Amino acid sequence: MNEEHILVSRHAAVLEIRFNRPAKKNAITNAMYGAMADGLEQAAADKHMRAILFTAAGDFFTAGNDLMDFAAINSGEAAENAPREVGRFLMRMIEAEKPVVVAVQGNAVGVGVTMLLQADLVYIAEGAKLITPFIDLGLVPENASSITIPDRIGYVRAFQLLGLCEPMSGREAAACGIANAALPMAEVETKARAAAHALAKKPAESLRLTKNLMRNREALTKRLNEEGALFAQRLKSPEAAEAFAAFLERRPADFSKLG
Ligand code: COA
Repeated sequence: MNEEHILVSRHAAVLEIRFNRPAKKNAITNAMYGAMADGLEQAAADKHMRAILFTAAGDFFTAGNDLMDFAAINSGEAAENAPREVGRFLMRMIEAEKPVVVAVQGNAVGVGVTMLLQADLVYIAEGAKLITPFIDLGLVPENASSITIPDRIGYVRAFQLLGLCEPMSGREAAACGIANAALPMAEVETKARAAAHALAKKPAESLRLTKNLMRNREALTKRLNEEGALFAQRLKSPEAAEAFAAFLERRPADFSKLG
């Protein structure tokens, strides 16, 4: 797929997937998910590719799912039978047997956070903020994050993220195990790239088997699907309609008149 907002490139044995839509804070459209899924499939199929690195252009890692795409689903404008590439991307992340490293050089929202919990190594800017506003959007968590986040950081801290929707700083993310290290912004990509190349030099089969042992893909997939069914319903809810309208009109959402 030719998608200018996702750049896929090869550097020695590392496949890099780069968000490249800085004017929209790297918000991810359906086509971008498709290009990301294609990149992961390419890496899986190519024996010369031994690690995957996610990076981003600009000062934002990603503002998460494109809210125009969500609003079109909510209003019924999106074609019912159009492929929902997000599902393919999320499944390819869960299935990935090659190591995935992420360089979070700026703020991350929504799937930009939950994908970190599906990665193997994460380097983040100290001042970056992680935000999971699913409830504030009238939605529910996705990407199996209703189990990956509490499992990783404990229930009450997870609820601060997923329930209160409070931002978490890069420093806190490193302290509680969402990221390996919090670094000055300018060093994040270099550090992550070095880690990806270090992994690419390891014995690939041993690394593959180890990753397989460490990941409970069955539980992740089951939860991904449970969340996905609820998420699809919530996308069409009146609460989500109010949240998307508020974003478009640049005003706070008001849920007080909804049941
Ligand atoms: N979907 C679509 N467009 C988005 C977007 C998103 N998720 N996030 C940002 N953009 C667009 C804005 O509409 C704006 O476009 P414009 O310049 O054509 O008006 C541009 O990106 C810059 O965003 P802006 O809101 O002006 O920047 P900001 O620094 O004031 O705020 C955010 C950045 C990310 C905090 C804010 O844009 C935001 O809250 N975005 C929504 C995040 C979200 O809820 N994502 C879904 C998670 S499930």
